[in-house]
Amino acid sequence: MSIIQAAEDLIREKLDKEVVEHALRVRNYALKIAEDENFEDKELIELAALLHDIGYIKGYQYHERNGAPFARQFLNGKGYDLMKTGKIVNCIMKHDSKSNPEAAEENRRATIARAPAYRRC
Ligand SMILES: [Fe+2]
Ligand SMILES: [Fe+2]
Repeated sequence: MSIIQAAEDLIREKLDKEVVEHALRVRNYALKIAEDENFEDKELIELAALLHDIGYIKGYQYHERNGAPFARQFLNGKGYDLMKTGKIVNCIMKHDSKSNPEAAEENRRATIARAPAYRRC
């Protein structure tokens, strides 16, 4: 089984249907952006997107902080590259723009800039 499939199975097993569907949509958007930006490591992007809300296992509050170590444990357990795991964990830790005003502004600008790409998804 690929690590992507394992991550997808994990979120389907652990998270509510609505959160799973959200994560799958985020995966599709992230892959589209990765394509537009010529980002080579699509697997890393896909894993970060699929796992970004894994912290919902413990509820919404602090889900980025709770999700980061959970994702690290999962990826380590699969023997995934440690450097890449660190990048994914960092993405998860920092993804909640509501608790990070700088990230919120950055996300707002990126969303406006990429609106045409989103519409193609
Ligand atoms: Fe989130
Ligand atoms: Fe999310």
